[in-house]
Amino acid sequence: MKNSILSYPLRGSYGDSKYRGNCSGYIIKDLLEYYRPNTFLECFAGSGTGFDVAKELGYINSIHLDLNRKFGSFNIMTNDLPKGFDLVFSHPPYWNIIKYSGTGNVWGGKVHKDDLSHIENYSDFIDKLNYVNKKIFDSIKVGGRHAILIGDLRKKGKYYSIIKDMEWYGQLDSHLIKIQYNTRGEKKKYYRNNFIPIAHEHLLVFKKEN
Ligand SMILES: C[S@@+](CC[C@H](N)C(=O)[O-])C[C@H]1O[C@@H](n2cnc3c(N)ncnc32)[C@H](O)[C@@H]1O
Repeated sequence: MKNSILSYPLRGSYGDSKYRGNCSGYIIKDLLEYYRPNTFLECFAGSGTGFDVAKELGYINSIHLDLNRKFGSFNIMTNDLPKGFDLVFSHPPYWNIIKYSGTGNVWGGKVHKDDLSHIENYSDFIDKLNYVNKKIFDSIKVGGRHAILIGDLRKKGKYYSIIKDMEWYGQLDSHLIKIQYNTRGEKKKYYRNNFIPIAHEHLLVFKKEN
């Protein structure tokens, strides 16, 4: 991590590139190599990107949780988070642009009632994201950090900035901009578009000072 612009044209052989909304493993690798936490927890582990990175870096006690059965069917809305971690990385759904549970969606089966990607109303989504972010913040140790990766989105012509609308818990330690590669939007042809396609995400790092 040299500066506040993150660019990873390749995602690395971590997790599953076919899992929609997955992130590059290099962002998690950079975080772990920069902050060197003794203990690491990942929320919204998805396809296992963070799990594979942590394994490669020799973390034997890292924890990776997701509503997806692959990572314990852990429901962040109702289950207790383990406490006392030095670093928590979270990569929640960007509202409902990619739906995770449910037939024809990312991991199929029935739609889960607490799947954050199935919330129709934006302000309900923000309320639930605030609940989750507060819960993560409360779980980390003093001096620990929560790094959240989250994008902006545009729906029916309206721009939504999730990082602007959500509450911030803790002291902002860094705000990094990650260039997005290989998005579906990138491949679409926008004829006569009167907007600029979004090609970045935000990585906010919050520190728990006391
Ligand atoms: C953006 S994806 C994470 C992708 C992951 N970083 C990767 O590279 O594969 C968001 C994840 O949030 C999970 N999710 C949605 N609602 C959840 C909940 N209530 N509790 C835990 N995980 C949830 C979804 O199953 C999905 O895997």
